[in-house]
Amino acid sequence: MKKLMIINGPNLNLLGKRETNIYGDLSFTEFFDSINNKYPGISLEHYQSNIEGELIDKIQEVGFSYDGIILNAAAYTHTSIGIGDAIKAIKTPVIEVHISNTFSREEYRHQSFIAPNAKGVILGFGLQSYELAILSFID
Ligand code: DQA
Repeated sequence: MKKLMIINGPNLNLLGKRETNIYGDLSFTEFFDSINNKYPGISLEHYQSNIEGELIDKIQEVGFSYDGIILNAAAYTHTSIGIGDAIKAIKTPVIEVHISNTFSREEYRHQSFIAPNAKGVILGFGLQSYELAILSFID
């Protein structure tokens, strides 16, 4: 069974409450439960932190044994050389995801330190971005 880890960065614990016009009104836990039920053939886990170093620790922890990481580094996408370096350092492929279309938003969201080292990038499909990333790991 394939093992995938979804890693969410800062403020994504507030999904469902935060800027619902952009990010929707579903909490990540509700969404995660529904996709977990939908794909019983894959082992799906979820980790969230607001702290950059904790995200790097998790990437290092799973990055040599899991089949895939689905990473929404949120605001750290646009700032974190450390997370970018962590992705370079590991063996597990990383898919960068975003709920919103970051290219249709402020210019500072157009830069990504994740994308150059990611297997691919999926953005702008709401929470479905995560599901599309999961599908990319299914044969
Ligand atoms: C986000 C986009 C980021 O620019 C922003 O800082 C987030 C969420 C998204 O999923 O659309 O927190 O990663």
